[in-house]
Amino acid sequence: MDIEKKVWEVLCSEEDIDSRIKELGAQISEDYKDKKLMVISLLRGSFIFCADLVRAINIPVKIEFMTTQSYGSEFSTSGNVEVVSDVKGSLEGYDVLVVDDITDSALTMHHVLNHLKSKNPNSIKSCVLLDKPSRRKVELVPDYCGFTIEDKFVAGYGLNYGDYYRNIPYVFAVTDEDRK
Ligand code: IMP
Ligand code: MG
Repeated sequence: MDIEKKVWEVLCSEEDIDSRIKELGAQISEDYKDKKLMVISLLRGSFIFCADLVRAINIPVKIEFMTTQSYGSEFSTSGNVEVVSDVKGSLEGYDVLVVDDITDSALTMHHVLNHLKSKNPNSIKSCVLLDKPSRRKVELVPDYCGFTIEDKFVAGYGLNYGDYYRNIPYVFAVTDEDRK
């Protein structure tokens, strides 16, 4: 398939993402200017968002990574969230900001926040590029959010469908034709 020729329904263009990330970076820099910021990127979905976000932050920041897994269907989580690769080192004294690509049921973020709270950070907040509030299974409002979107399965800008589409530089709604 030639992805150059695909026509997708674009929900967040490259320009939309770029300008929203600059706003988020400025807000986070202001909010954490007197704090000891540690950004924790949830792999793999947030790798592109987080790479751009931390470059829009202009205060010192420690960057860590964590991987979670939840076996479920192609379009939704099973609810059994598991930490498969934990953050390295101590969180004590740090103001932690957990970065993910999207909050859907919120089970992933809820689990990760509880898991990390047990490591005694100074504070802990969440930041997501996309939020689908209509699909919550647990109550959670991300502290920082790029875009609130309707209930559509999306891919691109780090988000996958099957094993593909993470490299598309914008966020689009997946259709049946995109099935690999
Ligand atoms: P939650 O636990 O249901 O909130 O789902 C969070 C995880 O599911 C995200 O970190 C994504 O990896 C994945 N996910 C949820 N919705 C989508 C989507 O529309 N496209 C791609 N991945 C998604
Ligand atoms: Mg994910």
